[in-house]
Amino acid sequence: MDNTGDPSAVRPGALRPETLCVHAGLEADPVTGAIAPNISTSVNNVLIPGEGAFSADGVADLADLPFLYARWTNPTVRQLEKRMAALEGTEEALASATGLAAIAGVFFTFLKAGDHLVVSDVCYAGAAELARRILPDYGIEVTAVNMARIEDVEAAIRPNTRLVHLESPCNPIVRLTDIAAVAALAHRRGALVSVDSTFATPAGSQPARLGADLVIHSLTKFINGHGDALGGAVCGSKELVAKVRSRAGVYLGATLSAQNAWLIMRGIDTLHARMRMISDTAMKLSTFLEGHEAVDRVIYPGLSSHPQRDLVEAQMTLPGGMIAFRLKGDMQDAARRMAGRLKVVHYAFSLGHQRSIVVYLDTQEMMDSTFHLEGRQLEDYRAFAGDGIFRLSVGLEAAEDLMADLDQALVMPG
Ligand SMILES: Cc1ncc(COP(=O)(O)O)c(C=O)c1O
Repeated sequence: MDNTGDPSAVRPGALRPETLCVHAGLEADPVTGAIAPNISTSVNNVLIPGEGAFSADGVADLADLPFLYARWTNPTVRQLEKRMAALEGTEEALASATGLAAIAGVFFTFLKAGDHLVVSDVCYAGAAELARRILPDYGIEVTAVNMARIEDVEAAIRPNTRLVHLESPCNPIVRLTDIAAVAALAHRRGALVSVDSTFATPAGSQPARLGADLVIHSLTKFINGHGDALGGAVCGSKELVAKVRSRAGVYLGATLSAQNAWLIMRGIDTLHARMRMISDTAMKLSTFLEGHEAVDRVIYPGLSSHPQRDLVEAQMTLPGGMIAFRLKGDMQDAARRMAGRLKVVHYAFSLGHQRSIVVYLDTQEMMDSTFHLEGRQLEDYRAFAGDGIFRLSVGLEAAEDLMADLDQALVMPG
């Protein structure tokens, strides 16, 4: 892991990620000279003779057109798209209304009836349910595999496999996938690879540099980082993002609003600073939890006890803000106790805000509602999650206050 700002980790001539967070995609307003991005609220724009809709040449990407109609993109959203592309080191990006719209956009662009998707057997519940419950209704075949077992990915790929979709680290068990290995394998067999990098953020991992064709984010989480705007993004080559924009961007109609794009850009300004602090705090918290008498197991990429420590070293630049932990004793009871007793940490769903959030996810309930794993896949899940895990999203509070709050909530009634 390089979180030291080592210049050799940066391509020659390229700006460092911290600088890109503050500058990428931003241009002073050509009319007023304003430095901060404006919020452009107009739904449509006048047509300029000789350009765009008036020009005869075939335009490959709607993003190359002058601004016409805000469902394709808009000047504020476009600045966010440029920043996301710069942060992920890709040519292009598309912003969408939510992270799930970005995932659905990729699925409905690159998969049609008769195609096959290989999807991580553990990923964000909405993505897992979309893949396994909804896509088959459209004639798309889906196989769920534990992507940490490369031989299972190899065995799952068929001649009609068009896409391999994974999360690293994955929600909720914080298990990694070797992105470079999956990408090399999928490319040999003619499939694209999309990686949902929401848990890692661009500060923690850049999947396109490891061979992923498409990098997906829920901007709602750490990238916006303030729990006050929904958003999503798909980053990739000009050609692939153009396809997503012209199919999903236009026909799913899940366009990001200019107001949310502006808020998310405000979040990105501090993404690096926040993720460094959050990673430091998460390191302290996970170490504290690992030594706590009520705690059975902690899974955090920064800990030497993470089962995939070598992979963390190889593909993550910061360990991030997501911790999974299990308790000794009855965790349902403990969850109720924590919900009642926590004063600093919120007991709630979602993640990636400035305020820490924890929630209990019971393994049997996750299996019944979403993952439906059996045999070795279930054993692999349980090796991380046991009967259930607390998913802790670390915020910007002082580590000492978070530890004290968790401590008083974890103590068993006497
Ligand atoms: C890893 C991951 N991807 C995607 C999403 C969906 O994001 P959104 O809520 O912005 O649609 C989530 C939401 O929790 C997530 O955790």
